[in-house]
Amino acid sequence: MYVVFLGAPGAGKGTQAAEVAKELKLAHIATGDMFREAQKKGTELALQAKSYMERGILVPDEITIKMVLERISAPDCKNGVIFDGFPRNLAQAQALDKAMVGLSKAIDKVVYIKVSEEELLKRLGGRWICRQCQTPYHEVSSPPKIKGKCDKCGGELYQRSDDIPATIKERLKVFFAQTAPLIDYYSKTGKLLEVAGEGGVDEIRQRILSAIGKKGARRS
Ligand code: AP5
Repeated sequence: MYVVFLGAPGAGKGTQAAEVAKELKLAHIATGDMFREAQKKGTELALQAKSYMERGILVPDEITIKMVLERISAPDCKNGVIFDGFPRNLAQAQALDKAMVGLSKAIDKVVYIKVSEEELLKRLGGRWICRQCQTPYHEVSSPPKIKGKCDKCGGELYQRSDDIPATIKERLKVFFAQTAPLIDYYSKTGKLLEVAGEGGVDEIRQRILSAIGKKGARRS
């Protein structure tokens, strides 16, 4: 199963994609995480992406598409993938469709996680992320058990440099101008599933699983 998670910055794509991918045994491809990982290693890709990410604008398509196309040919993607943060514009969506045809696969479903702008701002302003395993926390809605430490791996928590008010505003602007048209693009293919993204994390996971026709284990 190949599923795209679509949503504005802070909609909960990363939170949900990690859980759903684990539950359905799918690979999880998160382009933002891939760029941040490259920055930790100081690679050429990181240098190219850094200035765009700091400004809250999209990294050029030729860099992003190449990175994703290399990643989807890896063996762990054979049984399916959850794409988180990709595609983010029409050119990326068309490149992905073409690449999937080349692999004799297709995107099965597109989950659009819909969240109000007011809630997005609250979420991004209070987000903390684990440096080691990338698990996101929120200082109000999902704080870690020990302040500054990841519950899962004990890693240090940090705030992303693009989670500051001016950059958040730019990222939302980019979403509405460049990514939101994909809602229409996928809607025309009949693959779009809109899921209400406000409520508890577990409740939303259940909504996503049921929208894609899978059953999930209740956790609470
Ligand atoms: P990326 O890392 O993809 O960031 P984003 O799309 O802006 O999305 P976020 O990671 O901010 O939000 P999310 O939806 O994953 O929410 P999360 O689960 O963390 O991209 C960063 C940059 O990289 C881009 O600006 C661009 O420069 C570049 N880039 C990446 N992909 C690219 C591409 N394809 N093309 C070009 N450039 C690209 O949740 C947010 C917060 O809310 C957390 O604190 C979480 O704990 C909390 N939360 C989650 N669910 C709930 C809930 N149900 N209730 C309350 N709080 C919740």
